Amino acid sequence: MEKPRSIQKVFKSKPVTEGAGIKLKRAFGFSQVPLLDPFLLLDDFRSGNPADYLKGFPWHPHRGIETITYLLEGTVGHKDSLGNEGVIHPGDVQWMTAGSGIIHEEMPFGNERGSVAGFQLWANLPASQKMTAPQYRDITAAMIPEVSLGHGITARIICGRLQGSTGPVEGIAIDPEYLDVTIPPGATWNHPVKDGYTIFAYIIAGKGLFGHDTEPFSFDTQGVSYFDMETGPFMENETVVLYSTDGDHIHVSTDESPVRFLLLSAKPLREPVAWHGPIVMNTRKELQTAFEEYHSGTFLREHQAKP
Ligand code: FE2
Repeated sequence: MEKPRSIQKVFKSKPVTEGAGIKLKRAFGFSQVPLLDPFLLLDDFRSGNPADYLKGFPWHPHRGIETITYLLEGTVGHKDSLGNEGVIHPGDVQWMTAGSGIIHEEMPFGNERGSVAGFQLWANLPASQKMTAPQYRDITAAMIPEVSLGHGITARIICGRLQGSTGPVEGIAIDPEYLDVTIPPGATWNHPVKDGYTIFAYIIAGKGLFGHDTEPFSFDTQGVSYFDMETGPFMENETVVLYSTDGDHIHVSTDESPVRFLLLSAKPLREPVAWHGPIVMNTRKELQTAFEEYHSGTFLREHQAKP
């Protein structure tokens, strides 16, 4: 590893209301396109208040994308138009390739303390796969390897390869890596990144230094000023750190506090994005067709019929 990547942008999650009135925080989404290509959106639905989430996401369609749900607390019940039905439990991942189309509902339910904690990431499909057959990958917590990276650093590997262990999600076009990393106090982690790949961290607990040195930097994106006297260059919970494409690895370190973050990388698609609601295509025409089909009842393709 020769040159660490510098930070391109830092931004904070913002409260939004979605679905049937569910309150969550959006780390990034529509207004950032194509900054995080091939990633489209990241929602953080951690809440200790059932009023925030119980209304859930009633029946809605998806086409042209993958939705990746990673749950830490509570449960998410899901049902779809193909007759699939299941429950996502803490530590599980549901990697859903919507492809040509799926209509589903997703209903979060709190644990005994009334808490739900999870993240839903949307990744784009290449034009050549937007109309592929829908597919679910139901990944239970036990299927996700947790590896020790030395100095007390650990990572759960949802997708990718680390220390000889491979995550359970394979065969995705954008060649993603999805890790849940924890670094204890006073440690440093260097992690290689493939040339030209987009990489970002989303901090979910503690604080860490995500740049390659301690030089102060000042980010002011979307009205959020990032260098403050109190935390200095340390990044905290609900923060997205997007790296530039200038190096071959990222460098993360901690001082007195541990840090936990989701780390995502993938190969950018560099294709046009036509996005409305839960459907993301390449052209307006394809988008129009999708909505016309949804409203006329021809949205689901025959090849999706349940075996
Ligand atoms: Fe959905």
